[in-house]
Amino acid sequence: MTERRTAVVTGGGSGIGRAISLRLAEDGFATAVLDLNEEAAQVVAEEARQKGGEATAFAVDVSDRAKVDAALEKVRETYGPILVLVNNAGITGFKEFLKITDPVWDRIVAVNLSGPLYCTQNAVPDMIEAGWGRIVNISSSSAQSGQQYMVHYVSTKAGLIGMTKSLALELGPKGITVNTIPPGFVDTPMLRASEERGLLGGSVDKHADLTPVRRPGKPEDIAAAASFLISEEAGYITGQVIGVNGGRNT
Ligand SMILES: NC(=O)c1ccc[n+]([C@@H]2O[C@H](COP(=O)([O-])OP(=O)(O)OC[C@H]3O[C@@H](n4cnc5c(N)ncnc54)[C@H](O)[C@@H]3O)[C@@H](O)[C@H]2O)c1
Repeated sequence: MTERRTAVVTGGGSGIGRAISLRLAEDGFATAVLDLNEEAAQVVAEEARQKGGEATAFAVDVSDRAKVDAALEKVRETYGPILVLVNNAGITGFKEFLKITDPVWDRIVAVNLSGPLYCTQNAVPDMIEAGWGRIVNISSSSAQSGQQYMVHYVSTKAGLIGMTKSLALELGPKGITVNTIPPGFVDTPMLRASEERGLLGGSVDKHADLTPVRRPGKPEDIAAAASFLISEEAGYITGQVIGVNGGRNT
């Protein structure tokens, strides 16, 4: 077992989760890269190790409580108690409101909202025991602005913001901070897939022109904010919604 604190990043195999995993490994955490796509998580963990960090990949489907419990138990066996949790795994969806079926609604709620619940309920006892912990939930700027054809997705992300604020009140006295970053317009495979399917209402370049800082976000922009929220110095910041969106939402 290592002396390093252990950090878990869900959805660490791609995009924002990949950048957060690499950043936390660089920051000195023993980083558990969890993803449904185990191969992708392995590539990221290997990349982190190549850069001198400590990281291991674990397969998980965050929508399945038994699988979450099994994966996080393996993390503990490898690295010890989990003191940092980044709930990042998520799926998107575009559907006219009246066409949102029960299976579509249930799946997006299971991954985007129940997933963070299962992971957090599993990890929090370790943080309470240590008297220190950091939880960062990756929500979405769409929950600040609303987004047409995304009622199901936005509902889950708004729920995650509510979970963050309420949990911060419960866990603050125990030395644990809980914050959320709602990213907006970050250049990841998720964003490019939406562009390809014509779901963005224009190209990424067109949206960049409409963004105050005149560029799409980079996954590293989100990772930098997560790194700060997880740092010792951020101990007085909890229950907050820290937008990283190039000025698109204020
Ligand atoms: N890219 C953006 O502009 C943007 C904007 C707002 C919010 N977000 C949020 O940021 C987070 C990361 O998004 P991204 O753009 O990096 O997406 P991405 O699709 O590139 O990566 C998401 C990762 O989550 C994994 N994943 C999906 N379902 C899972 C499950 N059930 N269990 C475990 N892992 C699972 C995927 O395999 C993938 O590796 C998501 O929660 C997303 O909603 C992204």
